Amino acid sequence: MDAEHTPITQVPPRRMHTLESLNESQIEAIRKIPPYGTQPPPVMTVRYPASHFTERARFEQERDTVFRKMAVPIMPSARISQPGTAITHHGYGMALLLVRDKAGTLRVFLNACQHKGAKLVEGCALQKLSRITCPYHSWTYGLDGSLITIARQDAFEAVNKADFNLAELPSREFGGLIWACLDRDVEPDFSALVPEIEADLVSLDIPTAHVYGHRSFNLKANWKLVLEPFMESYHVPRLHAASIGALFGDVTRVIDLLGPHQRKTAGKVNFQPEMVDIPGENIHKTVTFAYQLFPNAVLITSPYYISLMILMPVSERETNVDYYMLTLEAPQSEKAEEVAARSFELILKVFGEEDFRAAEISQEGLESKALSHMTYGGMENTIPMYYEQLDFLVGSA
Ligand code: FES
Ligand SMILES: [Fe+2]
Repeated sequence: MDAEHTPITQVPPRRMHTLESLNESQIEAIRKIPPYGTQPPPVMTVRYPASHFTERARFEQERDTVFRKMAVPIMPSARISQPGTAITHHGYGMALLLVRDKAGTLRVFLNACQHKGAKLVEGCALQKLSRITCPYHSWTYGLDGSLITIARQDAFEAVNKADFNLAELPSREFGGLIWACLDRDVEPDFSALVPEIEADLVSLDIPTAHVYGHRSFNLKANWKLVLEPFMESYHVPRLHAASIGALFGDVTRVIDLLGPHQRKTAGKVNFQPEMVDIPGENIHKTVTFAYQLFPNAVLITSPYYISLMILMPVSERETNVDYYMLTLEAPQSEKAEEVAARSFELILKVFGEEDFRAAEISQEGLESKALSHMTYGGMENTIPMYYEQLDFLVGSA
């Protein structure tokens, strides 16, 4: 039976975002997008030291003033949505254990037993559990991190179990992402988690999203070089000429700052303002939102999924990236599954073989010291905007 002849009652409505389902601020941004090709690009030339991408000292400053000081995203809440589950995380070079207790509260622990430090949970798959038992000598913890039993406690003299609870990092679930402060010796700073960005993430249904796919990458590039292509549109019709470039062209972007986070709103190639007024139309077919979540995540909308990337610096020339493909719901039919699988492959190809590759070849070139500065033009204007914020925190502004 083809779609036209299927009785309406048997077709579950496909969930999607329409203009009306967005929030006021998103709609306002969409209304500002000019017709395609009618606005010249902003004109500017900004220079930024090449050493900021290659020097150890700069990397350490960024680590100490940003990544170990501010809350950073760990993963989407959707990756660990069920009560009584746990998952490990290593992207930041720290062994973390995320646990959602029976009541639904999510905690981020260091994945280390308080007896002699053994990793409590291994592997990267989501686990269902009611307690956490150390594989070494079977000390057992509750899902809230409290030590419940010490095997053969009679052999220990005067130990107080309350002194051996798991080490926990300050964390928060916000906008559908789990955020944590990685340094327990520093006053936790969640100040970047402002309501303006939360409103956007909520209207895009990130808190209730389904994680369709996840892939981890280890890139030989400074984290800022990995971030850059996701902040500018200049490269899109060029670097992506053989893949998705023609869908976008040189678009005009409406740029908004939501607290420290950037939102870029753009129409696709040949965009005309009246296109967004077709009632009930999937808004992501016409408009792309690209968010830079400060300091190190990117969220980009596509017609049938949302890409979330978390960039985790390892050294001045190495970055771990977690890519998540988020959908409104799990595929409801074989056809939907097929489309999602194809989209996953395509986006990994575009990001992995094109954007990530661009970051790696830039790193290689910069290492040669051929240039003292990077140069950014008007179509890359959000990059210097971001570096101004970063440099202010690093103290090098
Ligand atoms: S190291 Fe965990 S019980 Fe000994
Ligand atoms: Fe790109």
